Amino acid sequence: MYDFMLGTREEIVADPRRYLLSVKRMLPRWANSLPDSEFHALIDLVAYQDRDRPVFVETGVGASTLLFLHYAMARGGHVYSWDLNGSKASFIRSVAAETLEPHHGRPISDHWTFVSAMSLAPHTGLAAVCQLTDRIDMSMHDSDHTWDTITGEIDSLLPSLADGAIVCVDDANQIYVHTYEPIVNMTRKKAGLPPIEPLADNRDEPHYKRLPSFFEKRFERVEYPKHSFAQRLQEDPFYAWYSADREGMGKLGMERLEDLEGRFVAVQLSGRRDNK
Ligand SMILES: C[S@@+](CC[C@H](N)C(=O)[O-])C[C@H]1O[C@@H](n2cnc3c(N)ncnc32)[C@H](O)[C@@H]1O
Repeated sequence: MYDFMLGTREEIVADPRRYLLSVKRMLPRWANSLPDSEFHALIDLVAYQDRDRPVFVETGVGASTLLFLHYAMARGGHVYSWDLNGSKASFIRSVAAETLEPHHGRPISDHWTFVSAMSLAPHTGLAAVCQLTDRIDMSMHDSDHTWDTITGEIDSLLPSLADGAIVCVDDANQIYVHTYEPIVNMTRKKAGLPPIEPLADNRDEPHYKRLPSFFEKRFERVEYPKHSFAQRLQEDPFYAWYSADREGMGKLGMERLEDLEGRFVAVQLSGRRDNK
């Protein structure tokens, strides 16, 4: 179903961005939660970092998995992904099997480890990654968009983050601390239940405003590598294509349409402080 002709080997090697966007655009919405502008930004960052045998870690499988897997397969690297939803990972694996595998001519399993678990679960969560790899070059946090989960995920990776690692956070314009109320209310709405009352101690500044000091406490150097997210956001076809869904999500607070530029944060970290 996904073995469309998206370019010759030479064309894909010459223009991986075009190829990856073509694969992304074939995905159904439930497996494609990343705006194209953010997908472009991730490609910019992988190209900027330009490492051999890169090791990527992500929470939340989908379009992002295919992007990281492409670069891992091209450069002899590896992707470690965490998600609660094993069926989604199986689906993404089937797309990769019909797109990336024939292009690279290598088994996906040599380059991808999927862990079906809560990102902060004891024993099976992200903290176990240090038993799988001693180096992480880039991480992408796109699971439960609360402050507690995002910062817990990043702290779980600290011992394995390579000097100069890039850490990316999706939905960084969200404001929830311990419970992601928009998804609670979306699930309740679908079940015919009324929304919950706002929870105590569950709102703060958007994450993108709080993250700089979080990183500065842990690293001597926190840099903001250039990428094209803000520029491409102005004309992102993702928002037009899925406009009804995005408006519905906006009404429930899942997409903070008024503060979209803060949605994506990417930092490059070096000099980990000993206290963490
Ligand atoms: C927004 S989607 C990920 C989108 C994906 N990065 C993409 O490019 O399309 C969020 C995913 O996170 C998963 N998830 C939510 N909370 C999680 C948690 N605490 N631990 C692991 N996975 C979680 C969900 O099952 C869902 O598949």
